[in-house]
Amino acid sequence: MRVAIYPGSFDPITNGHLDVVKRASKMCEHLIVSIIYNPNKTPLFTLEERFRQVKGAVMNYSNVTVDTFTGLLVEYAQQKQAVSIIKGLRAISDFEYEFQMALMNRKLCPDIETIFLMTSNEYSYLSSSIVKEVARFGGCIKGLVPENVRREVIEKFSS
Ligand code: PNS
Repeated sequence: MRVAIYPGSFDPITNGHLDVVKRASKMCEHLIVSIIYNPNKTPLFTLEERFRQVKGAVMNYSNVTVDTFTGLLVEYAQQKQAVSIIKGLRAISDFEYEFQMALMNRKLCPDIETIFLMTSNEYSYLSSSIVKEVARFGGCIKGLVPENVRREVIEKFSS
């Protein structure tokens, strides 16, 4: 069974992330969307909220499951017997940091390959941070995040 991990904060998951899920799910037998729990960060959504949101967003993909992890990504990937880590690239600006992480992950675990997938043009400007920024000031985020998530983002900022 060829397992791939798609890791991220997913705070919240966007349609750009979903575009990567769609592409990656065609390339492996089992894709695990893995949400990081980072005790040093304060996300907008709790781990439980993000888990529920991502589950709702990927429910139509039969070979995609959702999980959470903490600590080193490659150690987690090894536990899951994953052969690859999927990363989405939107622009050149993503590349430097992603390249550094990929090489460090290879140093830590040479057996796991990082695979970069380019997102669709229409999502190349999209990030969780920019969605939160727009929503914080009452801007329209329709079409940027899955509908189940859109409602929750708006709710977070209206309280
Ligand atoms: O969605 P994000 O916040 O860009 O995801 C970043 C993530 C979770 C992929 C990255 O921070 C990560 O892999 N964290 C796990 C810690 C780790 O393994 N660090 C060493 C990699 S160089």
